[in-house]
Amino acid sequence: NGAVRVNMTNVDSPLQIFVRAKKKINDIFIEIDDYVKDAVTFMHAVSGENKIATSQDVANIEAYVNKVQAIREVLKRDHMKVAFFGRTSNGKSTVINAMLHDKILPSGIGHTTNCFLQVEGSDTDEAFLRTEGSEEKLNVQSVSQLGHALCASRLQECALVHVHWPRELCALLRDDVVLVDSPGVDVTPNLDQWIDRYCLDADVFVLVANAESTLMVTEKNFFHKVSTKISQPNIFILNNRWDASASEPEYLDQVRTQHANRCVDFLSRELRVCTPKEAEERIFFISAKEALLTRMREREKPVSSPILADGHQVRYFEFVDFERKFEECISQSAVRTKFAQHSRRGKNIAADVMAALDQVYNKASDMKSSKVEKQRVLHEQLSAVEEQLTAITRQMKDKIGRMVESVEHKVSLTLSQ
Ligand code: GTP
Ligand code: MG
Repeated sequence: NGAVRVNMTNVDSPLQIFVRAKKKINDIFIEIDDYVKDAVTFMHAVSGENKIATSQDVANIEAYVNKVQAIREVLKRDHMKVAFFGRTSNGKSTVINAMLHDKILPSGIGHTTNCFLQVEGSDTDEAFLRTEGSEEKLNVQSVSQLGHALCASRLQECALVHVHWPRELCALLRDDVVLVDSPGVDVTPNLDQWIDRYCLDADVFVLVANAESTLMVTEKNFFHKVSTKISQPNIFILNNRWDASASEPEYLDQVRTQHANRCVDFLSRELRVCTPKEAEERIFFISAKEALLTRMREREKPVSSPILADGHQVRYFEFVDFERKFEECISQSAVRTKFAQHSRRGKNIAADVMAALDQVYNKASDMKSSKVEKQRVLHEQLSAVEEQLTAITRQMKDKIGRMVESVEHKVSLTLSQ
């Protein structure tokens, strides 16, 4: 079918930090699931004739089964999300296409991207689109109709289209990265709405700037708003269209220094999201158009304009360097923000189940002592039950106690990677 499959054994990608952590947390929740189900069986056993546990006690424990199930569902869907912003025509869509090694999103001169386009992995072999709130699978060719500003059937600017692309065609998608393309920040009065809808759960932001001009007030304002709503957002700045510098080599270094200084100043002193030193590591001079062309050629896809400007290899290396640093940043951020919360909830569930078992145990002891005076015979029977109960509860408590420790241990290992 002409598609060139990407190398699937990319084990040293920084994205694997996330992929492995997700697998571990998943395994931990499979264990928690087992323990909770054991506890339910135990509760049923002691709620029968002996009436030690009430039906409410049983229901309370049973409720945890669904809770654990719900967390496992969320875990399955957890991903790393990167959102791209910048002025119209700076090359946001082209950067994303270059990262995906294919021309997936519409790009072109003028105002092109008309709504939010979220590219994510498709579990099947097929590529398809879905608009927000609809289950209908649309043909992938219609991305240019839905997402392109020049088409009559286009959507509203803050609408979202999900672009599902076969995971095996792209390493980023295979490792659970989701990429969000946006219309230019200069074409909307609804920046607040954009942020509330599409930015709050983003792990990384990429500001695609135009190296032919300079950082603009509209772009800066957008990120000022973002940083009031999100504490310490991770922001990368791509000075795109750096191929233009090839035609003015006499000023290349000075222009680069001018852009770099402004970008460092913006991230460190204006937004205060990082130190000047850290900011230097977040700024890149690239040509998305060249990177995409290079990659399309590698995949033997037909491309036009084969001549690349001087210095294209250096710009391409810088693009690859950006991708590496971006991958490190996004996987670490996603592990911290997404899995820390799940593991806290896992620990709480384990502790709650243990408390419920404790309560049943105490109740059994109380029942025993109150009946002691009344009936000796009953007492003996109860003692026998209690003996059994003590043994089984101890066992459960031990089991769950060990699990809480192992969960804590594994989670702290995962988070400290
Ligand atoms: P909107 O969707 O309209 O907001 O624009 P965008 O930021 O998505 O830009 P897009 O990727 O559509 O690129 C705009 C035009 O610039 C296209 O014709 C691209 O081919 C071109 N372009 C993108 N990146 C580069 C680059 O690095 N160098 C050059 N020379 N052209 C580029
Ligand atoms: Mg675009």
